[in-house]
Amino acid sequence: MTPRILDGTAVSKAIRAEVAGEVAELTARGIVPGLAVILVGDHPASAVYVASKGAAAREAGIAERTLRFPAGLSGAELLAAVDSLNRDDAVDAILVQLPLPKHIDSARIFEAIDPRKDVDGFHPVNAGRLLQGKPAPVPCTPAGILELLRREGIPLQGTRAVVVGRSDIVGKPTALLLLQNHATVTIAHSRTRDLPGLCREADLLVAAIGRPGFVTGAFVKEGAVLVDVGINRLTSRADVERFFHGDAARLSAFEKKGSTLVGDCDPATAFPRSSRYTPVPGGVGPLTIAILLRNTLDLCRKRRSP
Ligand code: GUN
Repeated sequence: MTPRILDGTAVSKAIRAEVAGEVAELTARGIVPGLAVILVGDHPASAVYVASKGAAAREAGIAERTLRFPAGLSGAELLAAVDSLNRDDAVDAILVQLPLPKHIDSARIFEAIDPRKDVDGFHPVNAGRLLQGKPAPVPCTPAGILELLRREGIPLQGTRAVVVGRSDIVGKPTALLLLQNHATVTIAHSRTRDLPGLCREADLLVAAIGRPGFVTGAFVKEGAVLVDVGINRLTSRADVERFFHGDAARLSAFEKKGSTLVGDCDPATAFPRSSRYTPVPGGVGPLTIAILLRNTLDLCRKRRSP
Protein backbone atom coordinates (compact mmCIF):
# COMPACT_ATOMS: atom_id res chain seq x y z
CA MET A 1 0.00 0.00 0.00
CA THR A 2 1.37 3.45 -0.88
CA PRO A 3 0.73 5.79 2.03
CA ARG A 4 -1.20 8.96 1.35
CA ILE A 5 -0.05 12.31 2.71
CA LEU A 6 -2.44 14.19 4.98
CA ASP A 7 -1.85 17.66 3.59
CA GLY A 8 -1.94 20.07 6.52
CA THR A 9 -0.90 22.98 4.35
CA ALA A 10 -3.93 22.59 2.05
CA VAL A 11 -6.40 22.15 4.92
CA SER A 12 -4.83 25.10 6.73
CA LYS A 13 -5.27 27.28 3.64
CA ALA A 14 -8.95 26.34 3.44
CA ILE A 15 -9.53 27.18 7.12
CA ARG A 16 -7.65 30.47 6.81
CA ALA A 17 -9.76 31.48 3.81
CA GLU A 18 -12.96 30.65 5.71
CA VAL A 19 -11.83 32.70 8.71
CA ALA A 20 -10.80 35.64 6.48
CA GLY A 21 -14.27 35.65 4.89
CA GLU A 22 -15.98 35.74 8.28
CA VAL A 23 -13.62 38.42 9.60
CA ALA A 24 -14.42 40.58 6.54
CA GLU A 25 -18.15 40.25 7.27
CA LEU A 26 -17.65 41.26 10.91
CA THR A 27 -15.35 44.13 9.94
CA ALA A 28 -17.99 45.46 7.56
CA ARG A 29 -20.27 45.67 10.62
CA GLY A 30 -17.62 47.59 12.56
CA ILE A 31 -16.18 44.72 14.60
CA VAL A 32 -12.52 43.87 14.05
CA PRO A 33 -11.35 40.75 15.93
CA GLY A 34 -8.19 41.50 17.92
CA LEU A 35 -5.34 39.15 18.84
CA ALA A 36 -2.49 40.07 21.21
CA VAL A 37 0.64 37.91 21.24
CA ILE A 38 3.25 38.12 23.99
CA LEU A 39 6.82 36.97 23.41
CA VAL A 40 9.31 37.05 26.27
CA GLY A 41 13.01 36.63 25.46
CA ASP A 42 14.69 35.58 22.24
CA HIS A 43 14.09 31.82 21.98
CA PRO A 44 14.84 31.43 18.23
CA ALA A 45 12.05 28.95 17.38
CA SER A 46 9.49 30.99 19.35
CA ALA A 47 10.48 34.16 17.49
CA VAL A 48 9.83 32.37 14.18
CA TYR A 49 6.48 30.95 15.36
CA VAL A 50 5.32 34.31 16.70
CA ALA A 51 6.23 36.06 13.44
CA SER A 52 4.25 33.43 11.48
CA LYS A 53 1.25 33.76 13.78
CA GLY A 54 1.27 37.55 13.45
CA ALA A 55 1.55 37.47 9.66
CA ALA A 56 -1.26 34.90 9.34
CA ALA A 57 -3.53 36.94 11.61
CA ARG A 58 -2.97 40.14 9.65
CA GLU A 59 -3.55 38.31 6.37
CA ALA A 60 -6.93 37.16 7.70
CA GLY A 61 -7.86 40.75 8.59
CA ILE A 62 -7.42 40.26 12.35
CA ALA A 63 -6.00 43.26 14.27
CA GLU A 64 -2.80 41.70 15.58
CA ARG A 65 -0.43 43.17 18.10
CA THR A 66 2.80 41.47 19.23
CA LEU A 67 4.31 42.60 22.53
CA ARG A 68 8.00 41.70 22.75
CA PHE A 69 9.71 41.74 26.14
CA PRO A 70 13.32 41.07 27.18
CA ALA A 71 14.20 37.72 28.80
CA GLY A 72 14.76 39.50 32.13
CA LEU A 73 11.10 40.57 32.44
CA SER A 74 9.78 39.72 35.90
CA GLY A 75 6.71 37.60 36.52
CA ALA A 76 5.00 40.65 38.07
CA GLU A 77 5.68 42.73 34.96
CA LEU A 78 4.27 39.99 32.74
CA LEU A 79 1.19 39.72 34.95
CA ALA A 80 0.71 43.47 34.57
CA ALA A 81 0.90 43.18 30.76
CA VAL A 82 -1.67 40.37 30.77
CA ASP A 83 -3.93 42.36 33.07
CA SER A 84 -3.79 45.34 30.74
CA LEU A 85 -4.77 43.15 27.75
CA ASN A 86 -7.59 41.60 29.82
CA ARG A 87 -9.01 45.10 30.28
CA ASP A 88 -8.49 46.21 26.66
CA ASP A 89 -11.83 45.91 24.87
CA ALA A 90 -10.20 45.76 21.41
CA VAL A 91 -8.38 42.55 22.39
CA ASP A 92 -10.47 39.38 21.98
CA ALA A 93 -7.67 36.83 22.23
CA ILE A 94 -4.41 36.67 24.21
CA LEU A 95 -1.55 34.29 23.41
CA VAL A 96 1.51 34.04 25.65
CA GLN A 97 4.13 32.14 23.68
CA LEU A 98 5.73 29.17 25.46
CA PRO A 99 8.30 28.39 26.67
CA LEU A 100 8.63 31.31 29.08
CA PRO A 101 11.99 31.99 30.79
CA LYS A 102 12.56 29.63 33.73
CA HIS A 103 12.19 32.32 36.42
CA ILE A 104 8.55 32.91 35.39
CA ASP A 105 5.81 30.63 36.70
CA SER A 106 3.91 29.80 33.49
CA ALA A 107 0.91 28.35 35.32
CA ARG A 108 0.40 31.64 37.19
CA ILE A 109 0.53 33.59 33.94
CA PHE A 110 -1.99 31.35 32.17
CA GLU A 111 -4.33 31.50 35.17
CA ALA A 112 -4.22 35.30 34.94
CA ILE A 113 -5.53 35.38 31.36
CA ASP A 114 -9.26 36.15 31.21
CA PRO A 115 -10.77 32.73 30.29
CA ARG A 116 -12.95 34.53 27.71
CA LYS A 117 -9.76 35.69 25.95
CA ASP A 118 -7.81 32.44 26.38
CA VAL A 119 -7.07 31.62 22.72
CA ASP A 120 -4.88 28.62 23.63
CA GLY A 121 -7.47 27.08 25.95
CA PHE A 122 -4.76 26.66 28.61
CA HIS A 123 -6.63 28.33 31.49
CA PRO A 124 -7.70 25.71 34.08
CA VAL A 125 -11.35 26.75 33.62
CA ASN A 126 -11.18 26.05 29.89
CA ALA A 127 -9.13 22.86 30.36
CA GLY A 128 -11.83 21.71 32.82
CA ARG A 129 -14.61 22.61 30.41
CA LEU A 130 -12.89 20.60 27.67
CA LEU A 131 -12.59 17.64 30.06
CA GLN A 132 -16.33 17.82 30.67
CA GLY A 133 -17.18 18.22 26.97
CA LYS A 134 -18.50 21.78 27.43
CA PRO A 135 -17.93 24.56 24.88
CA ALA A 136 -14.46 26.07 25.37
CA PRO A 137 -11.54 27.33 23.31
CA VAL A 138 -9.59 24.17 22.45
CA PRO A 139 -5.75 24.15 22.33
CA CYS A 140 -4.72 24.93 18.76
CA THR A 141 -2.59 21.90 17.87
CA PRO A 142 -5.06 19.27 19.15
CA ALA A 143 -7.98 21.11 17.52
CA GLY A 144 -5.97 21.24 14.27
CA ILE A 145 -5.31 17.51 14.36
CA LEU A 146 -9.01 16.73 14.83
CA GLU A 147 -10.02 19.15 12.08
CA LEU A 148 -7.53 17.54 9.68
CA LEU A 149 -8.84 14.05 10.46
CA ARG A 150 -12.44 15.25 10.05
CA ARG A 151 -11.82 16.97 6.72
CA GLU A 152 -9.86 13.98 5.42
CA GLY A 153 -12.80 11.71 6.31
CA ILE A 154 -10.84 9.51 8.70
CA PRO A 155 -13.30 7.64 10.92
CA LEU A 156 -12.60 7.67 14.66
CA GLN A 157 -15.59 5.93 16.19
CA GLY A 158 -14.59 2.58 17.64
CA THR A 159 -10.99 2.86 16.52
CA ARG A 160 -8.03 2.29 18.79
CA ALA A 161 -5.94 5.43 19.20
CA VAL A 162 -2.62 5.75 21.00
CA VAL A 163 -1.28 9.20 21.87
CA VAL A 164 2.43 9.16 22.74
CA GLY A 165 3.13 12.20 24.93
CA ARG A 166 1.21 13.55 27.91
CA SER A 167 1.73 17.31 27.76
CA ASP A 168 -1.05 19.73 28.75
CA ILE A 169 -0.61 21.46 25.37
CA VAL A 170 -0.85 18.50 23.01
CA GLY A 171 -1.01 14.96 24.43
CA LYS A 172 -3.76 15.29 27.04
CA PRO A 173 -6.16 17.52 25.04
CA THR A 174 -5.67 15.43 21.88
CA ALA A 175 -6.57 12.31 23.83
CA LEU A 176 -9.72 14.01 25.20
CA LEU A 177 -10.85 15.12 21.75
CA LEU A 178 -10.31 11.64 20.31
CA LEU A 179 -12.31 10.22 23.21
CA GLN A 180 -15.14 12.70 22.55
CA ASN A 181 -15.13 11.37 19.00
CA HIS A 182 -15.64 7.82 20.29
CA ALA A 183 -12.15 6.45 19.77
CA THR A 184 -10.73 4.11 22.42
CA VAL A 185 -7.75 6.08 23.65
CA THR A 186 -4.51 5.22 25.41
CA ILE A 187 -2.06 7.89 26.51
CA ALA A 188 1.48 6.51 26.44
CA HIS A 189 4.79 8.09 27.38
CA SER A 190 8.50 7.47 27.85
CA ARG A 191 7.90 5.21 30.86
CA THR A 192 5.26 3.03 29.22
CA ARG A 193 6.27 -0.64 29.27
CA ASP A 194 6.74 -2.13 25.78
CA LEU A 195 5.93 1.16 24.05
CA PRO A 196 6.49 -0.21 20.51
CA GLY A 197 4.17 -3.17 21.21
CA LEU A 198 1.42 -0.90 22.57
CA CYS A 199 1.75 1.50 19.63
CA ARG A 200 1.47 -1.41 17.19
CA GLU A 201 -2.12 -1.92 18.42
CA ALA A 202 -3.08 1.57 17.25
CA ASP A 203 -5.27 2.29 14.22
CA LEU A 204 -4.37 5.93 14.85
CA LEU A 205 -1.00 6.82 16.32
CA VAL A 206 -0.26 10.38 17.47
CA ALA A 207 3.41 11.10 18.14
CA ALA A 208 3.92 14.12 20.41
CA ILE A 209 7.05 13.54 22.45
CA GLY A 210 9.49 16.01 20.95
CA ARG A 211 12.20 13.46 20.12
CA PRO A 212 13.46 13.35 16.53
CA GLY A 213 12.53 10.16 14.68
CA PHE A 214 11.65 8.34 17.92
CA VAL A 215 8.68 6.45 16.46
CA THR A 216 10.17 3.90 14.07
CA GLY A 217 8.54 1.27 11.88
CA ALA A 218 8.56 -1.10 14.88
CA PHE A 219 5.86 1.13 16.48
CA VAL A 220 3.49 1.13 13.51
CA LYS A 221 0.78 -1.36 12.59
CA GLU A 222 0.64 -1.85 8.82
CA GLY A 223 -2.01 0.54 7.47
CA ALA A 224 -2.29 2.72 10.59
CA VAL A 225 -2.88 6.48 10.36
CA LEU A 226 0.13 8.42 11.68
CA VAL A 227 -0.09 11.95 13.07
CA ASP A 228 3.36 13.41 13.67
CA VAL A 229 3.28 16.46 15.95
CA GLY A 230 7.05 16.78 16.36
CA ILE A 231 8.98 19.73 14.96
CA ASN A 232 12.67 19.01 15.55
CA ARG A 233 15.37 21.01 13.81
CA LEU A 234 18.39 19.06 12.56
CA THR A 235 21.59 21.02 12.07
CA SER A 236 24.21 18.28 11.61
CA ARG A 237 24.78 16.53 8.28
CA ALA A 238 25.15 13.17 10.06
CA ASP A 239 21.64 13.51 11.59
CA VAL A 240 20.12 14.55 8.27
CA GLU A 241 21.69 11.54 6.57
CA ARG A 242 20.51 9.25 9.34
CA PHE A 243 16.87 10.27 8.83
CA PHE A 244 16.81 11.16 5.14
CA HIS A 245 19.37 8.76 3.66
CA GLY A 246 18.85 8.68 -0.13
CA ASP A 247 16.38 11.62 -0.11
CA ALA A 248 18.23 13.91 -2.52
CA ALA A 249 15.69 16.74 -2.31
CA ARG A 250 15.92 16.87 1.48
CA LEU A 251 19.71 16.71 1.49
CA SER A 252 20.01 19.55 -1.00
CA ALA A 253 17.49 21.64 0.99
CA PHE A 254 19.66 21.06 4.06
CA GLU A 255 22.79 22.12 2.15
CA LYS A 256 21.07 25.36 1.17
CA LYS A 257 19.59 26.29 4.55
CA GLY A 258 21.97 24.66 7.01
CA SER A 259 19.07 22.94 8.80
CA THR A 260 15.99 20.87 8.15
CA LEU A 261 13.03 19.61 10.15
CA VAL A 262 12.17 16.09 11.19
CA GLY A 263 9.16 15.03 13.22
CA ASP A 264 8.86 12.51 16.05
CA CYS A 265 8.40 9.75 13.46
CA ASP A 266 11.28 8.20 11.56
CA PRO A 267 10.40 9.09 7.95
CA ALA A 268 12.25 6.13 6.42
CA THR A 269 10.70 3.34 8.52
CA ALA A 270 7.46 4.64 10.12
CA PHE A 271 5.68 6.45 7.27
CA PRO A 272 5.96 3.61 4.71
CA ARG A 273 4.03 1.25 7.02
CA SER A 274 1.12 3.70 7.40
CA SER A 275 -1.92 4.18 5.17
CA ARG A 276 -1.83 7.95 5.75
CA TYR A 277 0.53 10.27 7.57
CA THR A 278 1.16 13.91 8.30
CA PRO A 279 4.53 15.03 6.91
CA VAL A 280 6.99 17.34 8.66
CA PRO A 281 6.97 20.09 7.60
CA GLY A 282 3.52 20.62 6.07
CA GLY A 283 1.40 18.45 8.34
CA VAL A 284 0.23 19.49 11.80
CA GLY A 285 2.30 22.73 12.01
CA PRO A 286 0.26 24.86 9.58
CA LEU A 287 -2.99 23.74 11.22
CA THR A 288 -1.95 25.11 14.60
CA ILE A 289 -1.82 28.60 13.09
CA ALA A 290 -5.11 28.20 11.20
CA ILE A 291 -6.89 27.16 14.41
CA LEU A 292 -5.37 30.11 16.28
CA LEU A 293 -7.20 32.38 13.82
CA ARG A 294 -10.41 30.35 14.11
CA ASN A 295 -10.23 30.50 17.92
CA THR A 296 -9.63 34.27 17.82
CA LEU A 297 -12.73 34.73 15.67
CA ASP A 298 -14.83 32.45 17.90
CA LEU A 299 -13.73 34.32 21.06
CA CYS A 300 -14.59 37.63 19.39
CA ARG A 301 -18.08 36.46 18.44
CA LYS A 302 -18.74 35.07 21.89
CA ARG A 303 -17.50 38.05 23.89
CA ARG A 304 -19.07 40.69 21.68
CA SER A 305 -22.14 38.55 20.72
CA PRO A 306 -22.30 39.84 17.13
N1 GUN B 1 4.66 27.02 22.15
C1 GUN B 1 4.60 25.90 21.39
N2 GUN B 1 3.33 25.61 21.06
C2 GUN B 1 2.56 26.57 21.63
C3 GUN B 1 1.15 26.81 21.65
O1 GUN B 1 0.34 26.09 21.08
N3 GUN B 1 0.76 27.92 22.34
C4 GUN B 1 1.64 28.73 22.99
N4 GUN B 1 1.14 29.77 23.64
N5 GUN B 1 2.94 28.52 23.00
C5 GUN B 1 3.39 27.44 22.32
